[in-house]
Amino acid sequence: MKIICCLLLFISTYSLQAQDADLPDDFLSKDFHLERREKLRESLPANSVAVFFANPVRNRANDVEYVYHQDPDFYYLTGYKEPEALLFVFKDQQTAANGTAYNEILFVQPRNAMREMWTGRRLGEQGTKDILGFQQTFNNSEFKRYNVDFSKFSKILFFDFHNDVRDNPRDSSDLYDLIAQFKTKVKYPEKKGVSLAVEPIKNNLDTKALAGLMANLRGIKTNEEIEMIRKAVAISCMGQVEVMKAIKPGMSEREIQGIHEFVFKKYQAEDLGYPSIVGAGHNGCILHYIDNYKPNVTSKELILMDLGAELHGYSADITRTIPVNGKFSPEQKAIYELVLKAQEEAMKITKPGIPLRLTTDTCRAVINRGLVELGIIKPNEKHLYFPHGVSHHIGLDVHDRGGAIMEEGNTITIEPGIYIPDNAACDKKWWGIAVRIEDDFLITKDGYEHLSKMGPRTVKEIEDMMKEPSVFDNFSLPDLDKVNSKSKTGN
Ligand code: GLY
Ligand code: MN
Ligand code: MN
Repeated sequence: MKIICCLLLFISTYSLQAQDADLPDDFLSKDFHLERREKLRESLPANSVAVFFANPVRNRANDVEYVYHQDPDFYYLTGYKEPEALLFVFKDQQTAANGTAYNEILFVQPRNAMREMWTGRRLGEQGTKDILGFQQTFNNSEFKRYNVDFSKFSKILFFDFHNDVRDNPRDSSDLYDLIAQFKTKVKYPEKKGVSLAVEPIKNNLDTKALAGLMANLRGIKTNEEIEMIRKAVAISCMGQVEVMKAIKPGMSEREIQGIHEFVFKKYQAEDLGYPSIVGAGHNGCILHYIDNYKPNVTSKELILMDLGAELHGYSADITRTIPVNGKFSPEQKAIYELVLKAQEEAMKITKPGIPLRLTTDTCRAVINRGLVELGIIKPNEKHLYFPHGVSHHIGLDVHDRGGAIMEEGNTITIEPGIYIPDNAACDKKWWGIAVRIEDDFLITKDGYEHLSKMGPRTVKEIEDMMKEPSVFDNFSLPDLDKVNSKSKTGN
């Protein structure tokens, strides 16, 4: 028996070590997550507990799931990247029936050799202790028996449920069950079609406060986070640079997207912060154009490219707009310079204490004035050529949690744009011109650091970069029709 136990222990220790060796060494440290939980605890109201659920696994079609992405709050507080998990952070020390004192508890999916063979390694209870540094971790099947009197807390803070989680009938402790068990334990007042968000709270449940507490924490980036965001931003800028060198009339929007995303992968970014937007000509007027269908971009068009690499959870958010043929036409240049001027004016006011929405007001004033000067609109005319806000926080979400006033340690975007669709009520020489320039900034003590500065941004910088040779210049693949006819005929 002892031998078997030793063997099991060896296997599990070995597999954790093997997993370690396969991992990049620049993930956030367990101390980061631990310290974030401590900070959250400090901000919790008296005699309260904060509760966080992992993101659900989402079905794509039939037996294929979407690639799993952890809930950013959950990841921020734990470093845990697997589904079917539940975290409690208590304000005050709790005492278990066996006398153990604890102030946080994590329920995770168990190790399972068969499941791990199909869907990858799991940390399990021991792994979350060894690797993530938790003291109190349990198999999620234990939650049902977890015997805490929730009525004793003055507040139980959690994000309300959207009732959109599927049950896996073969797993009686999946997220669906954890939520159901939690609702029973805290006496969640479930009524058909009515959620706590609209129902006056009659008990100690609070589904509102956590958003503000998490925004206060996540909005101010630690040095570790800033380094991660710096890398994600640099990777995303390198994508823009390589496309500037490689783009040629006749390429497809999808191919250009592919060059960006290849560069992201080459630099080991696991994911995209959001679906890539690559729109040539009037496609650039669709603010979140993600079809990227156009089979060949043409010489006279601008192409708007809004992409962000996600590295270890942290996303950049960068837009560059460039002329497909390497040279801006006079009209394209006029619009581009106006957007750039708006961005630079917004940069001038960017510092701690300034409301984020002021960058939008500043850009709007510059762009309205400029559009009048170009004869595109009349003074005071209401128009839809600049229909969006200019700044948001970036981080674990591309539209990250954070406060409304700029503070040292925020990472934000400034992203003005002008979008003139075909058939707009102006001279048709402007039709189909869509420009967005989006950069990422770290708010410093006295102002900002321009994180995405290495992405060519002025007309001259872009046109100069587009003259550079590209590693993709000699890249070609055989014609698919020829490949197919060869395989059909056998020669
Ligand atoms: N890429 C989405 C945005 O710029 O906010
Ligand atoms: Mn943005
Ligand atoms: Mn963007």
